[in-house]
Amino acid sequence: MKKWNAASVKASKGVSRLACLTAYDTGSARLADAAGIALLLVGDSLGMTVLGYDSTLPVTMAEMLHHTAAVVRGATDAMVVADMPFLSYQINREEAFRNAGRFVQEAGADAVKVEGGAIRAELVRTLTENGIPVLGHIGLTPQSVNVLGGYKVQGKTRAACDRLLDDAQALAEAGAFAIVLECTPPDIGAAVTAAVPVPVISVGAGPACDGQMLVMHDMLGLTERPPKFAKPYATLAATMRTAFAAYAAEVQTGAFPAPEHCYAPTAP
Ligand code: KIV
Repeated sequence: MKKWNAASVKASKGVSRLACLTAYDTGSARLADAAGIALLLVGDSLGMTVLGYDSTLPVTMAEMLHHTAAVVRGATDAMVVADMPFLSYQINREEAFRNAGRFVQEAGADAVKVEGGAIRAELVRTLTENGIPVLGHIGLTPQSVNVLGGYKVQGKTRAACDRLLDDAQALAEAGAFAIVLECTPPDIGAAVTAAVPVPVISVGAGPACDGQMLVMHDMLGLTERPPKFAKPYATLAATMRTAFAAYAAEVQTGAFPAPEHCYAPTAP
């Protein structure tokens, strides 16, 4: 399989559905890549899934660069997209360009993602024209949680739906190679998907979109309270809890390590 890139992801619209996942480390990126995942997003959900923050807002450039480089080392065929963290692209275009460039130059990312619709069109155009492909992100944009008043379903009114359509069109016209649409009713997912010539990747936006994205920890059953749309494909938290408890008990009783876990005795 040839490595996915911005052009092939864009060209997949209407041809095949994209299976996308978030990833934060080399090992899980390698497994997802081998399973045929087209696009690995190093999401700033890193803050909650791995780093123990309450939201994505505290995540820094240094943390995102570190984890993006780790995912790049595990990806062979999947395209790796780095999520630009809060305040890394909102202050001014120069800073945004420099930070986006660091993801490509220092961490080896294939593209970056920014949250926001029409307001980001100019930035998307600048980055794209300078060689940095951009994945858009509209609907529920977690970096704006304090403005949105929580992690809520978006696009529930006609006006909100029209705004999403305008935002998606602005991003596509500016050169975004694909757009993430998060947490909307499925009819909005269908309308946005039909309105733009680039793939719309659903994060809880229904089955009519051109692709689906899940947070890896949600789909593996590692998240305590996953969102409604996150289907669990495994129950790893329970498996890990059982393994940790069994190990702790065997260390206590002396059952571990057994002879098969020990090296041959030193020769006399
Ligand atoms: O940070 C993240 O994981 C994301 C995806 C859910 C789109 O932004």
